[in-house]
Amino acid sequence: MTGGFPDAKKINENLARAAAEVGVAMGVGSERAAVLKGQYPESYSCVAQYAVPLKFANIGAPQIIPQKPHDQVVGPTEVRAAMELIHADVLAIHLNFLQEMVQPEGDRKARGVLEQIGVLAAQFPVLVKETGAGISRAVAEDLRDRKVRAFDVSGTGGTSFAAVEHYRAVAQGAEREARVGKTFWDWGIPSPVSVLQLVPLGLPVVASGGVRSGLDVARALSLGASAAGTAAGVLRSASEGYEATRRELDHLVHELKVAMFLTGSRTVAELQRAPHVITGESRQWLSH
Ligand SMILES: Cc1cc2nc3c(=O)[nH]c(=O)nc-3n(C[C@H](O)[C@H](O)[C@H](O)COP(=O)(O)O)c2cc1C
Repeated sequence: MTGGFPDAKKINENLARAAAEVGVAMGVGSERAAVLKGQYPESYSCVAQYAVPLKFANIGAPQIIPQKPHDQVVGPTEVRAAMELIHADVLAIHLNFLQEMVQPEGDRKARGVLEQIGVLAAQFPVLVKETGAGISRAVAEDLRDRKVRAFDVSGTGGTSFAAVEHYRAVAQGAEREARVGKTFWDWGIPSPVSVLQLVPLGLPVVASGGVRSGLDVARALSLGASAAGTAAGVLRSASEGYEATRRELDHLVHELKVAMFLTGSRTVAELQRAPHVITGESRQWLSH
């Protein structure tokens, strides 16, 4: 979730220590600052000290292509550095084009991103994630054909970066961007719908975007997701300290176990086959 500024080290340490103890995976935030500018590498590398069972390095899709002539891009050398910095198992490439459109200083070029993801996916184990707008079946199929090995849907229903950037744009007096943020506040595919669209592709799918409890994790698994993730759900506790972070992760795991008990699911595989009901707007989405 984070990295690249002084306070991020403490947040990542809290997350990594708790994740290692509880036995859950963890991803850091965009490592652009560290690999392109050498900024605050320790805010990421601290994660490598802990035995987190699965670690995700992170770079943004807009940074893998030149945004301006002679721009330094995140290529294979920088990706290797980003992965080594945290001893990562997987490279997460995040899609955040909505956010970039609301940032007055946003990186708005996208042409060539798909091809470059393919170049990186040929050399590294790549997961593609969104950042709040979800991933459609068509996009996922294209990425699968380019050898991307997993997805993290990050759909609507959780953190909205259009909203976050709207307030920043207002503060900066950037009228056009502030308006785009408001207009596209909840643009995207709801997280459960995106999970259901991607599961039939047969690759691991992480459910995220609005996951706030162990029951949400159970819901995601019952839709066929391989795992679930949360950012805003641990941000406050991770900023507070290790104990709070550990407590929050323990709550999530306990709630997941309660849901498994109540549905008679002895294993995650059984929970993935548990019957589920899809109601309301999600149902309408799926009938298209
Ligand atoms: C404070 C914060 C920083 C984030 N930074 C990144 C980032 O650097 N890279 C990334 O892929 N996603 C980043 N995200 C997005 C999350 O990974 C996630 O996709 C999104 O917030 C939706 O999940 P949520 O509803 O649980 O917050 C960030 C989220 C938050 C809240």
